[in-house]
Amino acid sequence: MTPQPFVAMKNIEKSFNGVPVLKSVTLEVEEGEIHALLGENGAGKSTLMNILGGVHQPDNGTILINGEEAKMADPRVSQEHGISFIHQELNMVSDLKVYENMFLGSELRNKFGFLAVEEMCRQTHEILAELGVNINPKEYVRNLATSYKQLIEISKALLHKSRLIIMDEPTTSLAEHEVNRLFELMKNLKKTGVSIIYISHKLKEIQAVCDRYTVLRDGQLVKTGMVENEDLETITKMMVGKAISQERFMHEHPFGETAMEVSGLTSTGHFKDIDFTVRKGEIVGFTGLAGDGRTELFESLFGFRKKYAGEVKINGQVVKIDHPRKALQAGIGYVPKDRKENAIIKDLSVIHNMSLSSMGNFERSGFIQDKKEREKFDVYKKALNIKVHNPRITIDKLSGGNQQKVIIAKWLEAETDILIFDNPTQGIDVGAKQEIYQQIIALSRLGKAIIILSSEAPEVLRICHTINVMYHGEITARFTGEGASEEEIMHYATGSKREGIAIG
Ligand SMILES: Nc1ncnc2c1ncn2[C@@H]1O[C@H](COP(=O)(O)OP(=O)(O)OP(=O)(O)O)[C@@H](O)[C@H]1O
Ligand SMILES: [Mg+2]
Repeated sequence: MTPQPFVAMKNIEKSFNGVPVLKSVTLEVEEGEIHALLGENGAGKSTLMNILGGVHQPDNGTILINGEEAKMADPRVSQEHGISFIHQELNMVSDLKVYENMFLGSELRNKFGFLAVEEMCRQTHEILAELGVNINPKEYVRNLATSYKQLIEISKALLHKSRLIIMDEPTTSLAEHEVNRLFELMKNLKKTGVSIIYISHKLKEIQAVCDRYTVLRDGQLVKTGMVENEDLETITKMMVGKAISQERFMHEHPFGETAMEVSGLTSTGHFKDIDFTVRKGEIVGFTGLAGDGRTELFESLFGFRKKYAGEVKINGQVVKIDHPRKALQAGIGYVPKDRKENAIIKDLSVIHNMSLSSMGNFERSGFIQDKKEREKFDVYKKALNIKVHNPRITIDKLSGGNQQKVIIAKWLEAETDILIFDNPTQGIDVGAKQEIYQQIIALSRLGKAIIILSSEAPEVLRICHTINVMYHGEITARFTGEGASEEEIMHYATGSKREGIAIG
C-alpha cells in the first residue's frame, strides 16, 4: 500500500460570479516533498491555494489531510491542520514593528499575562538570521524595503511549526543571495518532513528545488510529474499550450538622435561617474546583482531622489530633475518594480488603472470617453492576454500577474518619449513575457527611447540593443546586444572583471 499523501485536494471546482476558475482540479502533496504549482497568469494557482488555506470555499470537491476529510472553513482551521500560507500579496501591517507583525494573532505572553516583547524579538531575530537577514525586530515595517517584507513574510510562516508551507511567488522581490538562502532553508525543512507547495514563474527555480510539479491551464489540471523528467521547454508548452522561443529578438533598425545623455552622475554611497546615452528607437539595458545601484540611479533620474552630482540632458537640453513631476514634464515615464506596492490603485477599476497616466487620450471637454477607453483597453487585453471578464471591476480581483500586465499597459499607453521599465516582467508568465517584449520593441520602432532595468541577464540579452552591467554603483561593462553572453555579464556583475568599460 502506498502511504497517504499529506494533502489531497480532489476534484476542486470554483467559480467567481458565474465564471469558472477551477474545473475539477486534483492535487496531491506527499510528506517532505517540494511540489511546484505552475501555470500562466490567471490559471488558478492562487485560487487553489486560497481554498487549501481556508480563504475561499470550493463550490465542489474535497480536501483530505492524511486521508481524512477536512473542511477549511477559514484560515485558522487550515493553520490548525499545520498549513502556513505565504501570500503572493504581502500581508504586512506597515504601522506595526517587525516582531509585532511576526506574532500578530499569536502573541507570546509571560506568566503575568503581559506581552513577552523581548522573547518575541529574540525569536524574530533568530528566524531572520537563518535567512541571513539582519534587521532590528523593533523596526517599523513601513521603513523596510520590499525584499525585507517578503523575507519577514517567509519567516512568519517558519515560526509556526508547519507541516505544509504554501509559498505563492515568494521570490519576486528577492536578490539572488536571498533566494539561495531560502532554497537552503527549504531543503532543510524538507529533510524534517515538511512539505512545500511552491509557485513561481521562474522555471529555473523550479528545477533547482522542486521534486514534482503540477501544471494548470485555464483552471484545468494538465499534468503532474517529476521535475527531473522534464525540460523547461516541455513544461512551458504545458503551461502556455504552445512552444515559446527563448531566442534573441532580431530587431535592428536605425536609431534617431540622442534622447537622453547622462554624464558624471554621482550620488555618494549609491552610484558613481555614470555616463550613458540612449537614442530614439534604442533599447538600453542595465543589469547586475542586488546592491549594484541600478534602482537608486534611475530613481534619481526620475526625480525620486534629489541629491546627485552630474548632468542630465534630454533632447540636448540640460535638465535638473528633482521631482517626478519634472521627469514627466521632460517626457520620462518610469514603471517601478514592486508594482503591487508602488503602482496599483486597489480600489480603482482595471480600466482606470490603465488609463490613469494618459487621461488626456480619453478626455474631451472634461469628460472621459468611456467607449474610447474601453476600445483601447481591449487592444491591450488582446495583445498582453489580460485575463479579465469585466474590466470595470476593481483591479484587486485580478490575478497577480494580470494586475502587472495592466500597469505595463498603462505605461505603454502613456505618451512619454523616454520609458524606464524596472523589471518589466516580474511575476509575469513565460507566454506573456514574450508579448510584453514585443510591445516594448514596437514602441522602440516608433522612436521611443527605452531603458530596461532587470535583475535577469537573459531578459536584457533578449531585447536590448545595448547592455550596461553595474557593480557597486559603477558601470563595469557595456556590450552591444549580440556581443554579450550570460557568463560574460556575470563576470562584470560580480566584480571579478572590471578593466574600464569593455565594449563587446
Ligand atoms: N475574488 C475574486 N473575484 C473575482 N475573480 C477572481 C477573484 N480571485 C481570483 N479571480 C479570478 O480567478 C482567476 C484565477 O486567478 P488566480 O489568482 O488563481 O491566478 P494565478 O494562477 O494565481 O495567476 P498569477 O500567476 O497571475 O498569480 C483569474 O481570472 C482571476 O481574475
Ligand atoms: Mg497568483
